[in-house]
Amino acid sequence: MRLLVISSSPNKEKSSTFVLAKEVLRGFSDEAVEWETIHLCDFKLNFCRHCEECHKKILDCSIKDNVPEILKKMLAADGIILASPNYINQITASMKAIFDRSTHFIHCRRLSDKYIAGVVSSGSGEDKDVLDYIKYYVNTCAAQYSGGVFCKAPITREKIDEAYQLGKKMSLDIKEKSVFPEQMRVIGDKKEHFKKLIERRKEDWPEEYQYWQDKGWL
Ligand SMILES: Cc1cc2nc3c(=O)[nH]c(=O)nc-3n(C[C@H](O)[C@H](O)[C@H](O)COP(=O)(O)O)c2cc1C
Repeated sequence: MRLLVISSSPNKEKSSTFVLAKEVLRGFSDEAVEWETIHLCDFKLNFCRHCEECHKKILDCSIKDNVPEILKKMLAADGIILASPNYINQITASMKAIFDRSTHFIHCRRLSDKYIAGVVSSGSGEDKDVLDYIKYYVNTCAAQYSGGVFCKAPITREKIDEAYQLGKKMSLDIKEKSVFPEQMRVIGDKKEHFKKLIERRKEDWPEEYQYWQDKGWL
């Protein structure tokens, strides 16, 4: 089982969000897990320029930075933990940059076999909107959301336990290929939406159109 932790706090190892994410990882303790952490602040990341290159030619990008390699790691993972501090009631700009640069995942349903969890920390503990947004992104990329954990810093024992339990649950979701019917309905509706878009834009985005054809989805 391959796991990827994407952590967007500039505080790296000292980050409350990352400490909580590590507890989620600890919940996988019984499994043969290979895991990798990406601290986004160590990478060169730029903002999407809406050139649509990645739709014309799959995952090709006109911006020469570290994002394409991060996206490839996301594709290779069975499970992803998205850990972001709450910055003005949202994920950090660095995490959003990754989301924006991954719209090919959305068009081509590329995270469909994956389970993803969200981890957020803040000064207030008012993190519902942030976790809801992470879940929205996850389902929009066709992945299933195993759950989320948030905490008001500093982290309490109760939150450590909650994060650990989330890790245990996520590891079972991956092993048993859990299906969450409500999320699958949302994912199915989005697939219909993107089918129409891909058909309408087939001349503009030939490789994404080909991808849908190869999958037998058209
Ligand atoms: C730019 C910025 C914006 C923030 N906005 C909020 C906010 O809207 N609500 C909140 O409760 N805390 C906010 N905080 C506090 C952080 O979310 C909090 O300190 C968090 O635990 C930091 O996580 P870290 O230790 O993983 O970096 C903000 C902090 C920064 C630097």
